[in-house]
Amino acid sequence: MKKELIFLGPPACGKGTQTNRLAEYLNFPHVDTGSLLRNEIKNETEAGIEAKKFIDKGQLVPAELVAKIIKNRLSQDDCKDGYILDGYPRSIEQADKLEIINQEINTDNNDVDFRAIYFDIDVNLLIERIINRRSCPVCGAIYNLLSIPPKVENHCDKDGAELTQRKDDTKEVAQARFDTYFKETAPLIDYYKNKGVLRTINADGTVDEVWERLLEVIK
Ligand code: AP5
Repeated sequence: MKKELIFLGPPACGKGTQTNRLAEYLNFPHVDTGSLLRNEIKNETEAGIEAKKFIDKGQLVPAELVAKIIKNRLSQDDCKDGYILDGYPRSIEQADKLEIINQEINTDNNDVDFRAIYFDIDVNLLIERIINRRSCPVCGAIYNLLSIPPKVENHCDKDGAELTQRKDDTKEVAQARFDTYFKETAPLIDYYKNKGVLRTINADGTVDEVWERLLEVIK
């Protein structure tokens, strides 16, 4: 049965940390809209130039632009048994669009297990996480100067690359991202609850504690 797992939660709730690990564990691709968009920006593509205007302000990138990138990625062969989708959908409009994309992709596979996993956490805990986040530009590993520091200062444990800080990880942009989250994305919690596919986990805890809770809801 194909497994389609999508992840919801406020900025810096730990989705990326857990879904990176889950992708390795399940051997499914980790499709992360934030990283896909940042990659477009880095390569200075037309989509990237457009996306940057919104990301820098903590706003959602236009739905059509993201849908095109997502459809293209989810159609690839490595997603045929399942995928881990982190950061999409982020609005009711995108959720409706995802349903259409999945129907278009799954033409000869009706046997699908779709779940939306919601990371529930008090957002007051998250600004500190954002400001102290660092990531590896090579492998995507995520660190935190306070809670999950690298073994060697400012270098990735896995490949030694110098860690970088995201441009949108400032206090000001983070506040705008939270506002966008509550306005546009939080309504998806009820949307998926009403469809009977929502699984909620308490995202306040150590990385290993949250991981154990995640394993329980993906069984
Ligand atoms: P995106 O990159 O998706 O950012 P986000 O949703 O704000 O999520 P984050 O990446 O900030 O957090 P996370 O939950 O992955 O947390 P992490 O594991 O890193 O999107 C960026 C932008 O792109 C958006 O603002 C928007 O403009 C655009 N965009 C993206 N998708 C879009 C879409 N679908 N439509 C339109 N626009 C879109 O953890 C955070 C920190 O906490 C790290 O430092 C980590 O080490 C630490 N940490 C993790 N777990 C724990 C723990 N248990 N205890 C202590 N610290 C922890």
